[in-house]
Amino acid sequence: MKFKKNILCIGAGYVGGPSMAMIAYKCPDYRVTVVDINSARIDAWNSTELPVYEPGLDAIIKKTRGKNLFFAKDIENQIKENDIIFVSVNTPTKTFGAGAGQASDLQFLEKTARQILEHSQSPKIVIEKSTLPVKTALAMERILASAKGKITFEVLSNPEFMAEGTAMTNLEKPDRVLIGSRETESGLKARAQLVDIYARWVPAEKIITSNIWSAELSKLVANAFLAQRVSSINSISALCEKTDADISEVAKAVGMDGRIGSKFLKAGIGFGGSCFKKDILNLVYLCSYYGLQDVADYWESVVKINEYQQDRFLANILGSMFNTLAGKKICVLGFSFKADTGDTRESPAIYITRKLLAEHAQVVISDPKALKNAAIDLASDKGKISYVEDPYSAASGCHALAILTDWELYRKLDFQKIYKSMVKPAFIFDGRNIIDHKKCFDIGFNVYPIGKPALSRFEDQSSF
Ligand code: UDX
Repeated sequence: MKFKKNILCIGAGYVGGPSMAMIAYKCPDYRVTVVDINSARIDAWNSTELPVYEPGLDAIIKKTRGKNLFFAKDIENQIKENDIIFVSVNTPTKTFGAGAGQASDLQFLEKTARQILEHSQSPKIVIEKSTLPVKTALAMERILASAKGKITFEVLSNPEFMAEGTAMTNLEKPDRVLIGSRETESGLKARAQLVDIYARWVPAEKIITSNIWSAELSKLVANAFLAQRVSSINSISALCEKTDADISEVAKAVGMDGRIGSKFLKAGIGFGGSCFKKDILNLVYLCSYYGLQDVADYWESVVKINEYQQDRFLANILGSMFNTLAGKKICVLGFSFKADTGDTRESPAIYITRKLLAEHAQVVISDPKALKNAAIDLASDKGKISYVEDPYSAASGCHALAILTDWELYRKLDFQKIYKSMVKPAFIFDGRNIIDHKKCFDIGFNVYPIGKPALSRFEDQSSF
């Protein structure tokens, strides 16, 4: 079969895999190929055990793989054969040299640009899909511009805004698709080609175009704004605990203002995930780089409040449990960075567990999907932690429960049964405000929510 367009994606991770699957699904007359330097990952995409878990992804892969969606290893050959190339390689935070700890490590991106340059025999549209610092496209353009002969490259920025766990819905019904390009004749032509692809299933008013720098920057800013909302509500949760105000009531009242909106106002132990911290730190680095130190400090405070919230949670556990955790058994309920995923990257649970261990507590970790990753994250503490999937067995014999992930199943636990099996006085620290606090208090627990008055039988033990 002859395909209308041939599309390649370099990078078969969380973004590349699902987003290309959606293009293939929506455009059966396009051939979409995904390559990766990690050949085990390509094997996984070609197997029944996909390397990424997303509701709905399996079904789409089944419908497209082998028909117009291919996962391949011959990167060089694929570069030759495709005209439109998405670049979706990882851009972790730099761990060395200038900007270590904040700036993005762009070595994989640059290697990919050089590979595209080396193996291209015809003009290409190269699309940045990874989240990148603003002005990265310039470096990409400069590398590609060194092409000998007549080959031309047009670089576009098309950042991906999908969230984990809802990736397929986000891809199918995006809030917006953003496409940035150079505003030259050839840039606008390339932009129009990409618009055409998305226009197959995304309403025209949701496909927005901009100059290339705005597109690059918008992705960082969207994540920074989302994280900033979480830090804002978390900072107020601290004040609520001092004043007997209730953070859920405050969030509701504030969020009903149409200008503010109600989403991302849930107080908790702080944000995690692979993007928020990395992107904000990248923004901070960029602001400092351009001499905007006050702006850098403003955004850095979002990360600081996130750390502060986790320290507050820990101080609350320690203070409420009579200032010693040594030898006490604490059951951590939930280890993933949010519900409905097994992903533990930057999960607050990692930091909190380590701090509990530093207090010589014995930690039992329970999670429906993340125990494998938890054991990898905490490999250096092997032997000090037990991993128990069933929450009832995990809680049995413990002094306290610390709810760290908002899994629906924790809402529905039989706390009466759990209470009976625990050491008394029994404590619950609800780091996500998901359980019925009054009910648990009536059962006999001392209950410590976030941003709400504690329901404790030890009134004199002020939180901290
Ligand atoms: C995020 C962005 O939402 C997405 O657009 C971007 O492409 C990648 O980063 P994701 O990392 O999947 O997606 O997580 P998200 O659902 O945004 O949640 C991030 C963190 O914030 C989680 O740890 C979550 O528990 C926390 N959070 C979120 C809160 O604590 N309170 C809230 O009200 C919302």
